[in-house]
Amino acid sequence: MKVLLIGSGGREHALAAAIARSPLLDELLAHPGNAGIAEYARCLDCADESALFDAIEIEGVDLVVIGPEAPLVDGLADRLGAAGVAVFGASQRAAMLEGSKAFAREFCDRHNIPQPAWRHFRKRADAIAYVENHTDAAHVVKADGLAAGKGVIVADDKAETIAAINTLLTDEDGAGVVIEERISGVEASLFAIADGTNAVFIGTAQDYKRAYDGDKGANTGGMGAVSPAPALTAELTEEAWREVVEKTIAGMRAESMPYQGFLYAGLMLTADGIKVIEFNCRFGDPEAQAILPRIEGDLLAAMRDASQGNLGGNLEKTSLSLQDNVAVVVVMANQGYPEKAVSGAVINGLAESAPNTLVFHAGTTQAGADIIASGGRVLAVTGLGANQTEARKNAYARVGTIAWDGVFYRRDIGG
Ligand code: AMP
Ligand code: GLY
Repeated sequence: MKVLLIGSGGREHALAAAIARSPLLDELLAHPGNAGIAEYARCLDCADESALFDAIEIEGVDLVVIGPEAPLVDGLADRLGAAGVAVFGASQRAAMLEGSKAFAREFCDRHNIPQPAWRHFRKRADAIAYVENHTDAAHVVKADGLAAGKGVIVADDKAETIAAINTLLTDEDGAGVVIEERISGVEASLFAIADGTNAVFIGTAQDYKRAYDGDKGANTGGMGAVSPAPALTAELTEEAWREVVEKTIAGMRAESMPYQGFLYAGLMLTADGIKVIEFNCRFGDPEAQAILPRIEGDLLAAMRDASQGNLGGNLEKTSLSLQDNVAVVVVMANQGYPEKAVSGAVINGLAESAPNTLVFHAGTTQAGADIIASGGRVLAVTGLGANQTEARKNAYARVGTIAWDGVFYRRDIGG
């Protein structure tokens, strides 16, 4: 197969490495790719979507795999499908599970999928009146649209909740905000591949969202991950599969929005059972860099089958068996991330290698023989081991051999 991977992050580097392991692959192309993806793929530089569609035709691409949420929410999968191109990734309507918080909350209510109490407001005065009259003080306010991780404010009291509404609800003609009951518990994520009717389990992970050690600092796209998620026992994984994944795939099908692609269920394990914090219509980043190296099965075969509605699977029958090991991922970022990252330094130590470790590129650029730290999140270093202690040791040993001016990373991932 000739496969085209869309995206340029650490997640896509991990996807490229997993696809490259498939015996089905003849050639991997990427658009736009990055310096790490270029080890596995021929990177295309298409100026716009029409150039991309031309390239797909000229190259004779058999399957397009869409990595990030923005093109999915923007309907790229639908446009490719309409042009007769096979694609792995959610349709625009299905991607609303991530693209609109209110859509996802309404959907979960309709299908009895466990979640916190919530309300949707378009008018600021209505939102504020609701909070003023509500006895529970702690809320979470979410902008109802894609916000690259910046659209959620966790508020401790009424004053903070009202401030959050004022920050996030600036356009009363826009999508508005969702105000949620603030629930508490350990967070964990579960990942599935779906073909519109069936879903196959591909693992769990715990994300580290805050910028600094001890879960301090701003929310980021993710500064580290551990897979499997330590808190998700086999029993809880079964519960999440049954209560969240199966109900979601069946509900989307019943509502004529069959869900095809990766499904990311962000969960909170509360005293009251598992609840959905959010859905994403893509793999996680850096969760992909934790889970994909653990997969033994043929990811490309599963993505092809999903794109054809032909993934006859369930939790027991998965073709994507996971190794019985643990992965710890440490993200190395440029100082200033997530607000305003400084960038431009040359990365040293990339050529070294260490057993049971992998280095995935996110914000890197090739400049002659050098690799430049050009993004906010720059690298994701994965350590594998028989247990978490070993995986963590391996990850940090490899991190210790890589350096550039202005690097920072958390020292407590998997600790
Ligand atoms: P989201 O972008 O929806 O995943 O929200 C970002 C983070 O905010 C989550 O990872 C949680 O830590 C927190 N969060 C979101 N919704 C809630 C909620 N209803 N109760 C408590 N914490 C939440
Ligand atoms: N690491 C969180 C995400 O990918 O959304």
